[in-house]
Amino acid sequence: MIDKCKIIELPKIKDPRGNLTFVEGGKHIPFEIQRVYYLYDVPGGAERGGHAHKELQQLIIAMSGSFDVLLDDGTEKKRFYLNRSYYGLYICPMIWRELDNFSSGSVCMVLASNLYDEADYYRDYQEFLDNLGITK
Ligand code: TYD
Repeated sequence: MIDKCKIIELPKIKDPRGNLTFVEGGKHIPFEIQRVYYLYDVPGGAERGGHAHKELQQLIIAMSGSFDVLLDDGTEKKRFYLNRSYYGLYICPMIWRELDNFSSGSVCMVLASNLYDEADYYRDYQEFLDNLGITK
């Protein structure tokens, strides 16, 4: 399942006045965008995430600075380093994620397939594994 999660290279219009990148829901990413949120003013050493989603799909972009995203499908783990605003990390449903190693001043933007719904979260790792039918 973790193989469905991958870096998507977004269109980049190079321009001496400054580069431009855009994302169209359903075209550059495999879902329509219903929500956008961003993390900023992240203090050094902080960790975000620590949960999985039942149905939500997301694209994570380092708009500024850099950070790591650790993905885990219960069987396999993969670490991605995001540091370019024209690369997005696509995350399919049922993936545990942790974000850390935020550089100072970094901004993490997330495009999401659904509105915020706490019922869509697994915040307990064991409950996540149980729902995947994985015994550890
Ligand atoms: P959470 O998803 O746990 O943050 P992260 O994964 O980035 O560490 O959300 C943190 C808090 O913000 C939680 O109380 C729910 C709230 N929240 C919203 O109200 N709307 C949103 O769109 C998001 C992403 C979070």
